[in-house]
Amino acid sequence: MTSITHKMCLIFLLIVVVMSLIPTIASKSHIITFRSPNLFPEGLTWDPHPSAQHFLVGSLRERSIHSINHAGEVQTIISDPNLPPNVTILGLAVDSINRRLLAVIHAIEPLPPFNALASYDLSSRKRLFLAKLSDDREVANDVTIDFSGTAYVTNSAGNFIWKVSFEGEASIFSKSPAFTSYPVPQDLPHSDLLPYRSCGLNGIAYLSKGYLLVVQTNTGKMFKVDAEDGRARRVLLTKDLVGADGISVRSDGTVVVVSPYMAWLLKSQDSWGEAVVYDEIALNTERFPTSVVTKHNDHRAYVLYGNVNVGILGRGEKEVFAIEELESSKDTEDEMIWVFVLIGLGLAYFMYWRFQMSRLVKNMSKKLS
Ligand SMILES: *[C@@H]1O[C@H](CO)[C@@H](O)[C@H](O)[C@H]1NC(C)=O
Repeated sequence: MTSITHKMCLIFLLIVVVMSLIPTIASKSHIITFRSPNLFPEGLTWDPHPSAQHFLVGSLRERSIHSINHAGEVQTIISDPNLPPNVTILGLAVDSINRRLLAVIHAIEPLPPFNALASYDLSSRKRLFLAKLSDDREVANDVTIDFSGTAYVTNSAGNFIWKVSFEGEASIFSKSPAFTSYPVPQDLPHSDLLPYRSCGLNGIAYLSKGYLLVVQTNTGKMFKVDAEDGRARRVLLTKDLVGADGISVRSDGTVVVVSPYMAWLLKSQDSWGEAVVYDEIALNTERFPTSVVTKHNDHRAYVLYGNVNVGILGRGEKEVFAIEELESSKDTEDEMIWVFVLIGLGLAYFMYWRFQMSRLVKNMSKKLS
């Protein structure tokens, strides 16, 4: 081959490599639209079981939990008419080891106070327990679960965390003074946050290293809570996440927090002593995002657009809701860097191979002559 054809080959090879990689990088973010009259879902989780592989969302008033698959098909998984009328399903978590679903049940004013954690068997769909948390005007909000099957539930009104054992026994787990040490800012970053001034501890996530991360809506603070003794410390953040509602941990350790107007991506190098907000993604405030979930072993995070604000205030009927994949340009940039590193390595290898070949050819021709 002449040197010109060599170069042509090389360029062609590079173009093929780049072209084949671009579609995976620039893949369009996935939107799942689903229909269910006046569902107004607040909580979102993912059931990773091979026979399930779908999202789960709770109803605002129907005492029901529904699955949503990637095609947007809705199925009723749980319907529990034994719960008090018109109560809301808030936080959801799947205990995949024991095939259980945990659901926070809360009665929104003016309903009589009711706060509980319900557990359902995902195979038989029977209720396993209903753990009463409080008959006062507390707000049981979000739930997460550890490896032993213990559930942790946030109280947004009282700023503490309950614990519910595998058998359904509830107790107060953490009432750290850290939860009430920080002032609620006077200037809110978004006018839609006004009703949330009284909303304290909210999204909660268990991390495999034996601690929980909890976000506080009205102060925008994040806390690291020891799963053994409930001791809590504020996580030092590069900025406050005022309005923070849902939280989820990606398989690469990135933490995603959503508020009604923004999603934040956070990374920590020291097991959440301090953390950096490395990306912010504006969300569609009108559709009122509340929850975020990441599938197991997956980098992707999905946000639930449930229009709960419309439903709670009785501002109208609604049938169409959505689950949308969050796309971070920072992640895409990181992937791009890897592509260039790979191309560089490929190029270096190719040059080395050419060098070896030319040496071989020289040696051969020497021997032949
Ligand atoms: C529950 O909601 C329905 C429909 O909005 C209403 O007619 C009923 O009175 C409510 N029940 C209670 C106990 O508030």
